[in-house]
Amino acid sequence: MTNELPRTRNNKLLDWVEEVALKCKPERVHWCDGSQEEYDRLCAEMVAQGTFIRLNDAKRPNSYLCRSDPGDVARVEDRTFICCERKEDAGPTNNWVHPEEMKAKLDGLLEGCMRGRTMYVIPFSMGPLGSPISHIGVQISDSPYVVVSMRMMTRMGGRVLDVLGDADFVPCLHSIGAPLAPGEADVPWPCNAEHKYIVHFPETHSIVSYGSGYGGNALLGKKCFALRIASSMGREQGWLAEHMLILGVESPEGEKTYVAAAFPSACGKTNFAMLVPPDGFDGWKVRTIGDDIAWLKPQPDGTLRAINPEAGFFGVAPGTSMKSNPNAMKTLNANVIFTNVAMTDDGDVWWEGMTEEVPAHLIDWQGKDWTPGCGRPAAHPNSRFTAPASQCPSIDPAWEDPAGVPIRALIFGGRLSKTFPLVFEAFDWQHGVYLAATMGSEATAAAVGQAAIRRDPFAMLPFCGYNMGDYWNHWLAMETQVETLPRIYRVNWFRKDANGKFAWPGFGDNMRVLKWIVDRVRDRAPEPAASPFGYMPRYQDLNWNGLDFSEDRFNGIMNIDRGEAEAEARDQAELFGRFGHHLPSELEEQREKLLRRLDETPPVWRLA
Ligand code: GTP
Ligand code: SPV
Ligand code: MN
Repeated sequence: MTNELPRTRNNKLLDWVEEVALKCKPERVHWCDGSQEEYDRLCAEMVAQGTFIRLNDAKRPNSYLCRSDPGDVARVEDRTFICCERKEDAGPTNNWVHPEEMKAKLDGLLEGCMRGRTMYVIPFSMGPLGSPISHIGVQISDSPYVVVSMRMMTRMGGRVLDVLGDADFVPCLHSIGAPLAPGEADVPWPCNAEHKYIVHFPETHSIVSYGSGYGGNALLGKKCFALRIASSMGREQGWLAEHMLILGVESPEGEKTYVAAAFPSACGKTNFAMLVPPDGFDGWKVRTIGDDIAWLKPQPDGTLRAINPEAGFFGVAPGTSMKSNPNAMKTLNANVIFTNVAMTDDGDVWWEGMTEEVPAHLIDWQGKDWTPGCGRPAAHPNSRFTAPASQCPSIDPAWEDPAGVPIRALIFGGRLSKTFPLVFEAFDWQHGVYLAATMGSEATAAAVGQAAIRRDPFAMLPFCGYNMGDYWNHWLAMETQVETLPRIYRVNWFRKDANGKFAWPGFGDNMRVLKWIVDRVRDRAPEPAASPFGYMPRYQDLNWNGLDFSEDRFNGIMNIDRGEAEAEARDQAELFGRFGHHLPSELEEQREKLLRRLDETPPVWRLA
């Protein structure tokens, strides 16, 4: 079946490729070598096919615009499944189907699903090639868009097979589910409108994805492997796979402090990871390790070290500008794939929030003429850029260090317009796990059909590969496995004022909060205030250089409305109640402690 000589003698791999080819019946099989020539050839083929538009080389060298099918624009959480033997092990927050039932279903769908197409074999490494904390996967896909994206997002190609040798790997089978009849003309973005299945088998560490070509549904190294399967592996092996950015804060004296932060999808990870300190922070620098996923492993020396398993950024385009995120904008100067953004008349890209001045005419993300005020967004709210991490001006010199970087603080934050203050610190590890477990967030465009507001524990609601209650237990157990425990924080950049506007400037000004966190973990911040939610900085504990933000305004975004806080604590009972005996008793105790603290709190708790 294969019409090329593969660069491996790994029997499990050769057998699996043969078996999949026999079932899916592609026209040909191509083993990806990961070379620039291969990338350029596939991009040229996609241009010819109408999938890609090559952008103006003078403005955006070696870059492409891709418009997806309008029905295939985001992750599909209701079509995402955890298939383990017992439903209980998937837990109440995952969709579960028995593995045998799911395999039978997929078997039917996969039969002949690649007819008329090329089947690509894509070997990839999550994490630096050959590092002891990296893991290897092989994705089979019938989408060239997936191949070129995986080349940017992972270490991909033949050299991965050399490192793999005879060892085990995670098989990741992907089909867009759109076979071609002989002579049938293809469409620019083929996918399956009827059937979509994003399926994980945590017990055998394997993945099958059918029907979608988009982002987290299709680039299987990312959410499917590096979070859902890896979280299960981490539970078995004593480490953590998290939906977290990693950044390093460098002081003017050259002291380096690394932190990791979990915010739900489209809630600010990329922006925080690439933060530029505002005027008034002379000599302070923020360096980027990763913007979406962190693998954290307890070390023999007592530290918790983290690596970014990815090699690129698949970032939200809308809102990205030279003002909000100059490092991202500079990363996007060349060699980028843009998906579902708008195109300018001179062959460049545009999206809402990119420039203050809105172009007079654009082609929108669906290929239609667009003018300001026409009532439609020019770029899809979940439009994205795919770019190599190495192009980011703020990338940390240690970003590919196979040993990872030592994490001193863990930050959790949702998108919440009320109730939650700008920042507070957990009293201790158990309280911190409780703060992360009860996190909520408002809906974004990163997944279709989200509720207006939902609990998103650890920003992992859509990404935890096993029972979330067991996951909380795994986190609690880290207290005895990590000697130098990071401190835990909650932040909220998204609180709104009485006029419905964001009350905090956000973006670069988040440095003010970040520096307080660094001062705390370095034991040089003044004694904080103890609020019912946790320890808080006072106005004078933050650096306000270069920003006109009064003590009154600050205290306003730090206050706690007792009624709102009690309603929140009571509502958490619903979340906890769903887990039965999988709920760690420590978390319910924390909830009760909060209610008792609120009993002693005035109607509005204020700093000072
Ligand atoms: P995923 O890639 O989906 O995991 O998203 P992410 O968490 O990396 O979010 P990202 O940084 O791309 O931000 C998503 C949106 O939130 C963008 O439109 C940003 O402009 C906006 N945003 C990010 N940080 C802030 C902030 O501090 N304040 C405000 N108001 N908006 C922000
Ligand atoms: C997210 O939704 O959290 C993303 C984008 O980072 S996706 O790759 O589609 O999951
Ligand atoms: Mn994400």
